Amino acid sequence: MRYEPSLKEIVGQAKAISTILQFLQHFKPGKALLLYGPPGVGKTATVHAIAREYGLELVELDSSTRRDAKSIEWVAGKAGKQASLFLRKKLISMDEVDGISERGGIAALVKLVQTSSHPVVLIANDPWSKRLRPLRPYVKLVEFRKLTERDIRKILQNYAKKMGISYEEKVLEELARRARGDARAAINDLYMLAQGKEKVTEEDLELLGFREKEKVVFEALKLIFKRKGFNAIFATSNLDMDLDEFKYWVMENIARDYKKPEEIGRAYDCLSRADIFLSRAKLMNYYRFLIYANTLLTAGVSLSKEEVYKTFTPFKSPSKIRKMTLTKQYRQTFRRIGDKVAELCHTSQGKAVKEIVPYLGFFLKSEKF
Ligand SMILES: Nc1ncnc2c1ncn2[C@@H]1O[C@H](COP(=O)(O)OP(=O)(O)OP(=O)(O)O)[C@@H](O)[C@H]1O
Ligand SMILES: [Mg+2]
Repeated sequence: MRYEPSLKEIVGQAKAISTILQFLQHFKPGKALLLYGPPGVGKTATVHAIAREYGLELVELDSSTRRDAKSIEWVAGKAGKQASLFLRKKLISMDEVDGISERGGIAALVKLVQTSSHPVVLIANDPWSKRLRPLRPYVKLVEFRKLTERDIRKILQNYAKKMGISYEEKVLEELARRARGDARAAINDLYMLAQGKEKVTEEDLELLGFREKEKVVFEALKLIFKRKGFNAIFATSNLDMDLDEFKYWVMENIARDYKKPEEIGRAYDCLSRADIFLSRAKLMNYYRFLIYANTLLTAGVSLSKEEVYKTFTPFKSPSKIRKMTLTKQYRQTFRRIGDKVAELCHTSQGKAVKEIVPYLGFFLKSEKF
């Protein structure tokens, strides 16, 4: 899935790229570049492409390597001074420098910049972060701009071509809109939607909406499961979802988080009482019951445990809801047909969908009909 664009394929950053190339061409020790810009706009990709295409040996200190003062000093001592074994020129790059937390780390970085005989390129999201202040006299800032929707559409087109993904035009438009300037997010979305499909269609976009919803609900679940207290009643206050649906999300995750049978039992008990209030609220048109249902679903379940489990719980969406979301369009079509059939056959929509529409498909397929 990783797609490393060539320098030519990097969209929208011509100015930054030319500044970097100039810097490398006229490199004099003592000054480094600090590339900055929002996530997913091509900072790392550009450094990689330049190293590849100009035959530079990339010495990379990204967040997966150790970046404490000692390690940086080590790089400064070794890579910074020695020529490489094959006399290839080096490019020292350090990603996410605004994330260096250790004291002394930035000081070591300043030293690296001052002494390195190879060009150093630093990357940050926020170059004005206080921590980076000591670096400022030693770096030239290079801005990577936020990408426009058009840029991202272009990037998605290139990506789709490379990966052999076909798509409806509208899909790229929508993905570009949702990405808010982040090409990585857009590429990840397209990649996900293309799984096991010949063509990505507009309908597949439903899946993305569902994923966004998942994020919001998981936050609410965290307030219930990962804390213990009556305050959990507020977990649902920002949730744009019926309690009727939320109940399935709680149900799905009780046994994922709670371990003791008594806790699980108590939580399910709350759930079943909540369920009774939910159906009575509807039946009797008495919406005060929803408050009881909410209290049971949130605080009730939260207080069912003895202690908070400190381990990470991968919450899951209820399979029933996932299926309903994915088949929403399909069911809507069925209902629309059902409406017409109901009118013609003088019956209810529900009956038409259940008892007549399935046969229509069969008739229409048969040649005799
Ligand atoms: N301007 C661009 N042109 C083409 N592809 C891009 C561009 N920006 C990002 N991409 C794609 O998105 C992926 C992620 O981009 P990259 O890692 O360069 O982002 P970044 O700016 O370093 O973000 P972060 O600040 O999160 O590290 C790249 O591998 C590339 O496939
Ligand atoms: Mg990066």
